[in-house]
Amino acid sequence: MDSFVPASAITAPPDEAAEEIVRLTDVKRRFGATPALDGISLTVRKGEILGIIGRSGAGKSTLIRCLNGLEQVDSGDIHIEGRRITGLSEKELQPLRRRIGMIFQHFNLLSAKTVAENVALPLKIEGAGKTERLKRAGELLELVGLSDKARAYPSSLSGGQKQRVGIARALAARPALLLSDEATSALDPETTRSILALLKDINSKLGLTILLITHEMEVVRGIADRVAVIDAGRNVEEGQVWSVFADPQAAITQSLLSGSRPQLPEHIAARLSPKSGAAQILSIDMAGSAAQGALFADLSQALPQSFCLVHGGIDHIQDQPVARFFIAVPTRDAALPEKVQQFLKARGARVEVLGYDPDHA
Ligand SMILES: Nc1ncnc2c1ncn2[C@@H]1O[C@H](COP(=O)(O)OP(=O)(O)OP(=O)(O)O)[C@@H](O)[C@H]1O
Ligand SMILES: [Mg+2]
Repeated sequence: MDSFVPASAITAPPDEAAEEIVRLTDVKRRFGATPALDGISLTVRKGEILGIIGRSGAGKSTLIRCLNGLEQVDSGDIHIEGRRITGLSEKELQPLRRRIGMIFQHFNLLSAKTVAENVALPLKIEGAGKTERLKRAGELLELVGLSDKARAYPSSLSGGQKQRVGIARALAARPALLLSDEATSALDPETTRSILALLKDINSKLGLTILLITHEMEVVRGIADRVAVIDAGRNVEEGQVWSVFADPQAAITQSLLSGSRPQLPEHIAARLSPKSGAAQILSIDMAGSAAQGALFADLSQALPQSFCLVHGGIDHIQDQPVARFFIAVPTRDAALPEKVQQFLKARGARVEVLGYDPDHA
């Protein structure tokens, strides 16, 4: 399928000159007969938020464990801040691990320690003194909006508050990279939004690079700059978030996105016939400049009474309009569907014939 999104949006990172924080080159890791990672290559640059999405078992957590050195790779290379971590001993890995903060789905807080003690834990491990630890914990709790909970214990906090503590703790040792493995999966949608907003805020305030693993496209859409889709241990699609939403290429991406993009209502899809009917049903996808402007008003004017809007809408992702509509074009004038398609294509839309609706009034 030809892409109607500019090629630059599919491959270009936000700032090509920015330092590479993570580089994976053809990384492979197999467990028995299962190739958990089957040749993954990707780059995350300083200040970028990369979302990694894939269904259960795709290899996401294995990727994260290889990145923080908890798992060895079978072949390929991993560089963090330009330093090769593959093949290092446990001792050599330790200082590099401190450059990476992690947040988890189940927060992993120590229940016998206060919120401030949990946040300060990485500094204690580093050997920082008590005054310094408390000062830094205070700053971090302010950053995540939990100054009043310093002396509280994790059991008295909500899920969202626990994750804020997890984020503060992950930032304590001033990491270069934050890894998030399904950090919002245990939270309700509103709390998820507030945690994503916090991560975005930290990303802009501190310039922190974030690699975010999720199976939810909405999480990627909320804060990521780019998204990489992995399936069966392979990187099957990568691009700026808006362009992948506008024009997903791989079947797995289309499937992961199905809940986030307008779909033809099922009762209409069920009655479509492949060859003929009272109206031809078209899907129309547009993104960027093509999605701006009065397309349907212009179509009405050029070809009066040539279509009925069935379903769809315009979304805004990373400030880019991304539109997807379904229209019905009556077939009583046999030449009309072709004229409508040509008009839409000339305006930069991607048009697909989905079938014919016998019931169209
Ligand atoms: N330690 C292990 N031993 C054996 N098989 C493993 C191990 N770790 C992962 N796997 C297998 O590797 C594949 C990838 O697992 P991984 O945990 O990376 O997936 P995931 O994308 O994180 O899935 P989920 O979304 O369910 O968390 C799966 O088939 C899994 O069963
Ligand atoms: Mg996982």
